Amino acid sequence: MIDELNALLAQAKDELADARDEAQVEAARIKFLGKKGSLSAVLRGMGKLAPDERPRVGEAVNSVKAGIEDLLERAKKAVAERALDADLRREKLDVTLPGRPQKLGHRHPVSLAMDDIIEIFARLGFHVADGPEIEWDVYNFEKLCFPVDHPARDMQDTFSLDPATLPPPPKGAPDPPTRILRTHTSPVQIRAMLEARKPPIRVITPGKVYRCDSDVTHTPMFHQVECLHVEEGVSMAHLRGTLDAFVKAFFGPHIQTRLRPSYFPFTEPSAEVDISHPLCGGKGCKICKGSGWMEVLGAGMVNPDELSGVGIDPEKYTGYAFGVGIDRLAMLRHGIDDLRLLFDNDVRFLQQL
Ligand code: PHE
Repeated sequence: MIDELNALLAQAKDELADARDEAQVEAARIKFLGKKGSLSAVLRGMGKLAPDERPRVGEAVNSVKAGIEDLLERAKKAVAERALDADLRREKLDVTLPGRPQKLGHRHPVSLAMDDIIEIFARLGFHVADGPEIEWDVYNFEKLCFPVDHPARDMQDTFSLDPATLPPPPKGAPDPPTRILRTHTSPVQIRAMLEARKPPIRVITPGKVYRCDSDVTHTPMFHQVECLHVEEGVSMAHLRGTLDAFVKAFFGPHIQTRLRPSYFPFTEPSAEVDISHPLCGGKGCKICKGSGWMEVLGAGMVNPDELSGVGIDPEKYTGYAFGVGIDRLAMLRHGIDDLRLLFDNDVRFLQQL
């Protein structure tokens, strides 16, 4: 019987030496150690042994069983190692291959212009103020002295919002809380003055504005930057000086400004401001329609009624304000003639700037 057991061990050793994969190892385990396996068959024969032979055979059974278990363990390890080797060989990396180039992003011309504007005004002592794009009608119009029947209030220009789709206004909000998409950055004038309470106030507010309008020179969303300076003794001369400094810093020292009388309800007097066309140098070209000038912004002295409306004494303080179309500035800077190109975000276009 002991010979039988030793033969079993030798057979297991042979078979496991050839095992190729885990399945073969498992098959060998079942064959030798399984319930219906060879070792169990030998054990069943032990009943027939003389009692004094049993301990010796029992010992041999145990040591053969331990031997087979050890062989199984080693075969399992060998199979796993071989599989890992094969994997590594198959997945070999060629670290000398050149990498795949990563595409570089480009800052948008409007973002670049916006950053430049903020930096120029920071040097002139202005800080950035912010306001919401969903604005109260009161701030967008009423407090800016728009008469109720002003044409800019027309549905054609202003995007109204369905109050049912909006979150409730904060407690103590002025009445009526009609909200719209702001049509200009001027409502931030009101917010800045209400927040500062007391002049001097020097703020700029870059941001998105919305008007129901769309063609080569208009998009329903565009960018403006508002500038507001309220202090004792501020005059039209300060407005002119600030405008000049800004335009020269943005486009270059050769650029000139010109003011034309205009009308805005919230400024008195009001002006439209032209700059000598940066592309033709004021000589006149197709884009400026031969005039040599381009209109870039609206400006004026803050209407005294607007000041008293936010609790600032117009006898003591005066202020100027202007609003610039940032997209327009970016177009002029890069010689782009269709505003919509700025918002298509075609990388091939943006890459050229
Ligand atoms: N808010 C005006 C517009 O959008 C521009 C403006 C701003 C005019 C400040 C005067 C003063 O047309």
